[in-house]
Amino acid sequence: MTTPNLPRGTHLQYRVQQLTLEEVDLKQLASTHGTPLFVYSKAAMLDALAAYETGFKGRQSQICYAMKANSSLAVLQLFAKAGCGFDIVSGGELARALAAGADAKKIIFSGVGKTREEMWAALGAGIGCFNVESLAELDVLNEVALDFGERAPISLRVNPDVDAKTHPYISTGLKGNKFGIAHKEVVQAYAYAAQCPGLRVVGIDCHIGSQIVDASPYLDAADRMLDLVDAIEANGIALEHLDFGGGLGIDYAGDTPPSADVLWIKLFEKLDARGYGNRKILIEPGRSLVGNAGVCLTEVLYMKPGEDKNFCIVDAAMNDLPRPTLYDAYHGIVPVDTTGDTPAQMVDVVGPICESGDWLGRDRSLAVQAGDILAVLSTGAYSMSMGSNYNSRNRPMEILVDGTEPHIIRERDRTEDQWANERLL
Ligand code: LLP
Repeated sequence: MTTPNLPRGTHLQYRVQQLTLEEVDLKQLASTHGTPLFVYSKAAMLDALAAYETGFKGRQSQICYAMKANSSLAVLQLFAKAGCGFDIVSGGELARALAAGADAKKIIFSGVGKTREEMWAALGAGIGCFNVESLAELDVLNEVALDFGERAPISLRVNPDVDAKTHPYISTGLKGNKFGIAHKEVVQAYAYAAQCPGLRVVGIDCHIGSQIVDASPYLDAADRMLDLVDAIEANGIALEHLDFGGGLGIDYAGDTPPSADVLWIKLFEKLDARGYGNRKILIEPGRSLVGNAGVCLTEVLYMKPGEDKNFCIVDAAMNDLPRPTLYDAYHGIVPVDTTGDTPAQMVDVVGPICESGDWLGRDRSLAVQAGDILAVLSTGAYSMSMGSNYNSRNRPMEILVDGTEPHIIRERDRTEDQWANERLL
C-alpha cells in the first residue's frame, strides 16, 4: 500500500513501511503494551518549544505551558526542566505542576471561576500572577489576599473583541464569550485594581482562542491590547509584563499555521514599532507545544460492512479521544504497518462506546483488517487530558519516547481504580 502523509512537527516516519516515532517501532510498542496506547515524542515537544525560543531570542520572555493541553506529570516535568512556567486553571493543575517540579514564581493562574480555596493555595505556593477575568473576582481575590497577608500579583484578562476565526467552542476573544473584561471597561478596571490594598498590578493579558492558523488575529489583538497599555500607563499604573495567551494552531489536516518563530518575529515588529519591544512578554501555549508530539495507537477489532457505510471498529473511543465528537475535529488515522495487501475501502472509524457520536474519523480510505494497528495522529493535546472513564473503560497507558527509549509515564488504569472512591450502600 502507499505510505500515508504525516503532519508536520511529529517526529513520525515510515521506515521500511513501518511507522516509527523517533527511533521506536510503533507496532512493536503496541504489541508489547497493548492498546489503546498514547505515545509521545520528547524531541517533538522540545522542537516545538525551541521554535518559540527562537522567536524570543534577545527578548525578555516567559513561556508558560498551558498544561490543560496535556497535564501528565512527566510532560510537565519535561517542560519545567526546559525552563517553562505553567498556565494553570485549577487547584488540581497547581498541585500537579508543583508535583512535577514547577517553579511557582513562573506559574500564572487563568480561568473565570477561581474559588477562594484555589486562590489561597496559589498565594501559599507563591505563584507569579493571577489573570483576573472579572471585577467580582478582583474583589474576592483582594479579600483573600488581605486575609492571607500578602498582595496578590495580578493582571487583567482583556477581551479584545477579535475574531480568531476558529471553532466557536474554542474562540474566546469575542464580545459574546464568557472570558475576560470588556475592552471598553479595562482602563477603569485597572484604576480600580490599583487602589485595592490586597492587589499588586503586574501585567495585562489576553487569549483570543485556540487552533488559530493565521497571524492576523494575533496582530489585531496586539494592537487592541497595546492601545489599552498606552491608556493604563498614562494613568500612572506600570505594567511589568504583557501576556499574549496561547492559541497557535497545529497541522491536523494540511493546516498551515505560522511557525512560532515566524509569528513572534512579526509580533515583535509591532511591539518594537509601538515602543514595547523591551517589555517582558509572557505566552501561554498549549496545543502548539504538544499536539503533534503524540499519537494514539488502537487495534482494529472488527470490520463491519453496512448498508450505507462500512465501519472499522477500533478499541479506542470517544472517552480516549473526545475531539472528533466534541468539535467535529479531524485527526489523521494511518496504519502503522503498510506492508499488507488488503484493498483500501471507505470506512468510518468508530469506537466501542454505545453512542453514534463515538467516531474517530469519517469517510476514510483505509486498507486494514481486524488485528491491524492504527495510529490516530496529532493527539498529544486535548486528548488524554480530556479523557474519561465513560462506559467504565480504563484510561490508556502513556509512553514518552526519547530516542530509542520508550518510558512508561502512566500505567493503564486498573478497573478497580475506577471505583476506588466509591462506596456501596
Ligand atoms: N491560555 C488560556 C487562558 C486558555 O484558555 C487556553 C486554552 C490556552 C492558554 C492554551 O491554548 P492553546 O495554545 O492550547 O490553543 N479542548 C479544545 C481546546 C480548548 C482550549 C482552551 N483554552 C480542543 O481540543 O481543541
